[in-house]
Amino acid sequence: MPDNLNPAVALSVSGLSFAISGTELIHPMDFEVKSGRRLVVLGPNGAGKSLLLRLGHGLLQPSSGQVHRNDRHLPGRRAHAMLFQTPVMLRRSVLDNVTHALAAIGVPAAQLRGRAVEALNRFGLMGLAERPARLLSGGEQQRLAIARAWALRPDLLFLDEPTAALDPSATRLIEAMLADLHAEGVTLMMSTHDLGQARRLADDILFLASGSLVEASEAERFFNDPQTAQARAFIAGDLVW
Ligand SMILES: Nc1ncnc2c1ncn2[C@@H]1O[C@H](COP(=O)(O)OP(=O)(O)O)[C@@H](O)[C@H]1O
Ligand SMILES: [Mg+2]
Repeated sequence: MPDNLNPAVALSVSGLSFAISGTELIHPMDFEVKSGRRLVVLGPNGAGKSLLLRLGHGLLQPSSGQVHRNDRHLPGRRAHAMLFQTPVMLRRSVLDNVTHALAAIGVPAAQLRGRAVEALNRFGLMGLAERPARLLSGGEQQRLAIARAWALRPDLLFLDEPTAALDPSATRLIEAMLADLHAEGVTLMMSTHDLGQARRLADDILFLASGSLVEASEAERFFNDPQTAQARAFIAGDLVW
């Protein structure tokens, strides 16, 4: 557990920047993700959304600043998990993809199958349990990725454009699953370049452009009363990507 992180805050970032080979790709920024909220990272292609989520999840190390999460030790759970635009599936059955993820966090062997079945049932995927995961459709794989993440019982879930590769009906299914996770109290930090999706899902918005945090506000305010010319242009569809 990091020093004095308020439990009402799932993630706190201060002075965070990220550079590769001397080029600063994420310029210094500060923000918080409040517990139980859905924070949407919005911005055009190349804005730095994926980098920011990877920094949040700990897949990348900041060049400066701090990322504080509630990383307390949780037996049989993971404090935070991450989903990608293209799900990462093992060359195993759907069920085994979930049991493997549970085994990797130390869940006892005797509990693996039960917890995996619970997760597949929870999201209506039990009918696919014995199928090879890599042969599922993109939408089915993403639903499995969410079920697999849910099985780890994270407090905080990072999602990097989870529906960008999906058609509208698969997107609706994913959005419904995210609504369920939110209702259960999971904190969501999700990127999208899709304004419609941000309007449907966001409680809070971080608007990025060119590696900078341009605007951070509650979603309603962001959409109704954006404070910057860049945000106004993006909302109007004038910021090309
Ligand atoms: N490994 C890397 N090396 C060099 N540049 C990178 C690397 N990863 C990302 N970038 C650059 O950083 C910027 C932000 O990338 P990214 O976070 O993927 O944007 P977004 O997800 O908003 O589309 C882009 O200009 C991208 O080209
Ligand atoms: Mg991206």
